[in-house]
Amino acid sequence: MDYIEKIKKIKIIPVIALDDANDAVLLAKALISGGLQIAEVTFRTDAAADSIKAIKKECPEMLLIAGTVLTTAQVDEAINAGGDVIVAPGFNGKIVDYCKSKRVPIIPGVATASEIEQAIEHEINVVKFFPAEAMGGVKTIKALSGPYNKIKFMPTGGINLENMKDYLNLSQVISVGGSWMVSKELIKNKKFDEITKLTLEAVKSLD
Ligand code: 3PG
Repeated sequence: MDYIEKIKKIKIIPVIALDDANDAVLLAKALISGGLQIAEVTFRTDAAADSIKAIKKECPEMLLIAGTVLTTAQVDEAINAGGDVIVAPGFNGKIVDYCKSKRVPIIPGVATASEIEQAIEHEINVVKFFPAEAMGGVKTIKALSGPYNKIKFMPTGGINLENMKDYLNLSQVISVGGSWMVSKELIKNKKFDEITKLTLEAVKSLD
């Protein structure tokens, strides 16, 4: 199964910012116990590459997305660490071209019509929609899907247990991402059981 199919099937992507790579495997196991074999580990923290490396080694079943990738150097870091897919919050043609030249899967971010057109220009048809809630959420995705009806969206930013279904009910949305089950606070306080509980709750709500 290719990575888009997997993302489509799993539907919920926990978006993680790890300060300490030593927490990475415990966190990954907490997510797996909650029913999610996927994580977006963001390069917002310096621990991202080491975290990806550790999870890949201990939990090879996980689909590992490297998130907030802002430079080509971070693309290299992410891939060398074992990341499966690159995701960015915005559309950077240089990063997209770099990933394509290396045959690395990339899902760039968009928030406007012009950015979607840049994606189309680069033959990208699955995009992250960020920051989803702040940019008008479901209403904006519906409006953008009028002219750009072949584009599939992966919204993140302000998504939680309460509103995730509103997004997933749209046929043009393949998955939602969010940090609500993996907040910095929960990770910092090593509340891995709570992370599993929140993950299970999110997965159950898909039924
Ligand atoms: C992301 O990087 O995709 C988002 O910051 C996640 O947004 P959230 O913290 O509002 O869920």
